Amino acid sequence: MAKQITIITGSTLGGAEYVADHLNDVLSAQGFDVALFNNAELSDIQDATKLLVITSTHGAGELPDNIKPLFETIDEQQPDFSAMQFGIIGLGSSDYDTFCNAVNIVEESLKTRGATQICESLRIDVVNNFDHDGTAEEWLPDFII
Ligand SMILES: Cc1cc2nc3c(=O)[nH]c(=O)nc-3n(C[C@H](O)[C@H](O)[C@H](O)COP(=O)(O)O)c2cc1C
Repeated sequence: MAKQITIITGSTLGGAEYVADHLNDVLSAQGFDVALFNNAELSDIQDATKLLVITSTHGAGELPDNIKPLFETIDEQQPDFSAMQFGIIGLGSSDYDTFCNAVNIVEESLKTRGATQICESLRIDVVNNFDHDGTAEEWLPDFII
């Protein structure tokens, strides 16, 4: 049976969604069974054993609006994620002193619920990195070990 990976995105203008689409293609070509959600609800990730979160940061270091409700629900309902392993890719701008803070929010939330972080999160600085897909693809082997 193919190994399953669940990808969820937090995005305002689509940058993080493009990266997710690319990694969906790459992982599917490698034989993974990928489920991708751009407006994930708790039920979409409740039983995920391998979760990849790809999110930008907006506002003053906040989660984008399409992923914020999920993490509010997680805070409220406090699900048990002890069977979940996760990795995070962040897109952000070093022009902000809250650079990629959404990554910190997601890390803390998932760890608090008992999930295990597989590898160091990737923080892509869109100010000086113009190959988001390539950078994410280079990071991927650390996540799919
Ligand atoms: C209004 C606004 C606020 C932003 N705030 C932050 C921030 O606090 N920290 C950060 O790292 N990047 C911040 N950014 C940069 C975005 O995260 C970056 O442009 C990213 O590529 C957007 O990806 P998306 O299209 O998937 O939303 C902000 C961008 C905008 C337009």
